[in-house]
Amino acid sequence: MLKKNILVTGASKGIGKALTIKFAREGHFVYATSRSIEIVGEYAEEKKLTPNIFPQALDVTNREAIIELVAKLEKTSPIYCVINNAGITSFRKAEHDTFETIEDIVNTNLLGAINLIKASLPGMIERKSGAIINIISVAADKVFTNSSIYAASKIGLQTYSKVLREELREHNIQVINVLPGATKTEIWSEEMREQFGDRMMTPEDIADVVFNAFEMSDKLVQEEIILRPKLGDL
Ligand SMILES: NC(=O)c1ccc[n+]([C@@H]2O[C@H](COP(=O)([O-])OP(=O)(O)OC[C@H]3O[C@@H](n4cnc5c(N)ncnc54)[C@H](OP(=O)(O)O)[C@@H]3O)[C@@H](O)[C@H]2O)c1
Repeated sequence: MLKKNILVTGASKGIGKALTIKFAREGHFVYATSRSIEIVGEYAEEKKLTPNIFPQALDVTNREAIIELVAKLEKTSPIYCVINNAGITSFRKAEHDTFETIEDIVNTNLLGAINLIKASLPGMIERKSGAIINIISVAADKVFTNSSIYAASKIGLQTYSKVLREELREHNIQVINVLPGATKTEIWSEEMREQFGDRMMTPEDIADVVFNAFEMSDKLVQEEIILRPKLGDL
């Protein structure tokens, strides 16, 4: 297996941390980004994965920082796969979301991912190889109350990526959208995790599926992946 350079956003905890550890354990080189890189450095050391995990500071709402990081990596370690994972939500009714919350969610979940894709595309197209994996949500597929902006941001990214997928076929770049249901991470309140944690999926479950999709035969791509807890949505 060829070892590849993978960039993960939101790698400090939850699904992003599980993805980073999984890909690194499998021998890939993971540029693990988040706003709090000291946390990434700590777990990389604790798991003895420092040769494969490279913590990088990145706030995905900062377009210039995205462009700078991609340009830096292009020179030293071109990225084969971008995993857009960083995400936030509010769990509030639309009427109670502030303007600031609305902007934060769209800037992180939608624009952050699109800007990182946009910055990464020239290199991938030139190399005629690459993969873009987006951690979306079942909220893009089914209506849940108290998640209007979150759902809008996720459907936006899913639709953008469906169009992108068709445009990138000729360049040998695959686009995989992953739509997980409830997964036990800190995106959920402590009360929700205490009450429903047993039926939630784990971040490691999601990371295993994403990794298997990434490693599939060159002849095929698993384009849209929906993952739900066996007992259904919360
Ligand atoms: N858990 C679920 O049930 C579930 C279900 C479906 C989809 N998802 C999606 O899965 C992804 C990961 O969520 P999670 O459940 O693992 O949540 P989490 O445990 O709260 O982790 C969120 C991650 O996003 C990062 N992040 C937030 N804002 C950022 C920003 N502006 N720039 C860079 N990184 C930022 C955080 O890192 P820093 O704060 O260190 O920057 C953190 O590493 C999200 O896109 C979420 O929508 C989750």
